[in-house]
Amino acid sequence: MKDASPLYHCTKCDAQFSKWSGQCPECGAWSTIIEGLSAETNAERPVSSPNTRPGKTQPFATLEGGSHEPRSATGLDLWDRILSGGFVRGSVTLLGGEPGIGKSTLLAQLALIVAAQNKPVLYVTGEESPNQVYLRLKRLSPAIPSSFAFLDHTQADVIAATIRETKPHLTIIDSVQTLKLPTVTGEAGNATQVRASAAVIAEAAKQTGCSVVLVGQVTKEGELAGPRLLEHLVDTVLMMEGDRSQAFRLLRVVKHRFGTTEESSILTMGEQGLIEVLDPSAAFIGDRPKGTSGSVVSCLLQGARPLLIELQALVTPAGFGVPSRRVTGADANRLSLLLAVLGRRVGVGFGDQDVFVNAVGGVDAKDPSIDLAIALALASAKSDKPFPPDMIAMGEVGLAGEIRPVARMALRIKEAARLGFKTAIVPKEKESPIVSGQTRMEIKPCATIREAIQAAG
Ligand code: TYD
Ligand code: MG
Repeated sequence: MKDASPLYHCTKCDAQFSKWSGQCPECGAWSTIIEGLSAETNAERPVSSPNTRPGKTQPFATLEGGSHEPRSATGLDLWDRILSGGFVRGSVTLLGGEPGIGKSTLLAQLALIVAAQNKPVLYVTGEESPNQVYLRLKRLSPAIPSSFAFLDHTQADVIAATIRETKPHLTIIDSVQTLKLPTVTGEAGNATQVRASAAVIAEAAKQTGCSVVLVGQVTKEGELAGPRLLEHLVDTVLMMEGDRSQAFRLLRVVKHRFGTTEESSILTMGEQGLIEVLDPSAAFIGDRPKGTSGSVVSCLLQGARPLLIELQALVTPAGFGVPSRRVTGADANRLSLLLAVLGRRVGVGFGDQDVFVNAVGGVDAKDPSIDLAIALALASAKSDKPFPPDMIAMGEVGLAGEIRPVARMALRIKEAARLGFKTAIVPKEKESPIVSGQTRMEIKPCATIREAIQAAG
């Protein structure tokens, strides 16, 4: 039986649907859904010919003792650590992030370091003019090595041909949204152009062994040309995140064919570009006001690394109308849940109050393991009673007001102890709970949020 094929597709993101709608449910764009399949999908399905010869199978054991992927360190320490040792030759890395977050700056630093080792580097400008890139490079380094070249072009096949001809060690393309192929319909930046262009570049990378970094702008609404669109095509996806108005940036690994995705790095913008924060926990809680109500510290995991973070809450009587709920850094839906749980299960209501919650530092703190700290900060803000400054709280809060276990508690407690915390409010765990004797800290396991408020105060 023949499958019922989708009859409509979105011209922006290429998603397919069985019925028409005004707004694309995938990418949210309006008036982009048209009848029929996209040219790409519509192309004749290749059929296998009866003359096709079979491939040759080989036992995996024959690969034993074979060489590992050839990998070269770039010399930019944080980059080499994030990529588990550096670039694999011919690999394609996508660096995603919102505009202004620091992608071009980080890649300019990387390119300068690689070029300084006399290795040819190619910077393909698309988003900015060569002059703008030059000014950034001059700000970052007084001397620009002569092995560092630029190509001011947006046609992917021309760029691929240039890579084949000049065989750079590293090519940076800023950004993939500006690329296009004359053989593909549509404007630069649309899904088909981005995918087709990236594929042409990836092929040149594989053939020449040149490592390629593609910059992908991620927009708040669409995520178009972000990691989702290109994830299958590239070897590595890195994301740069953070609140532009705040000091810290998080660089994390979303996908990595040649290493762990547990590495991450906290960066800060300095005079000499982005620098790695060597003790992020200390930096994050460094300027914390002590003895103020509404402030509680928790511990997040960034990949495999623990990161202490301060959660702040402020509660004030609301004016007219609907009370406002403002969240910076943390998850607005989790805040609604925590307010509801505090109201129903603990009797601490916020119905007539404006509530503000801030995860200090500007790193996305969307992990439910900080629920308990937010709830405690809210309770403290409401009663205007500070909790001890050397207390830390970790745990997920459930709808019944119960506190649920979170992953790698021992690691988080160790990090808190290292930075001088004395008490930890944690979930009650049946399996191998952490007890006070195991660490320098006093561990207070709590089953419910009500118990936790008592234990903290
Ligand atoms: P940029 O790297 O261009 O971000 P993206 O490529 O992700 O859009 O710029 C990040 C911001 O950093 C920009 O507002 C300018 C600023 N900046 C500095 O503060 N110091 C510097 O040395 C540089 C190069 C940029
Ligand atoms: Mg840029």
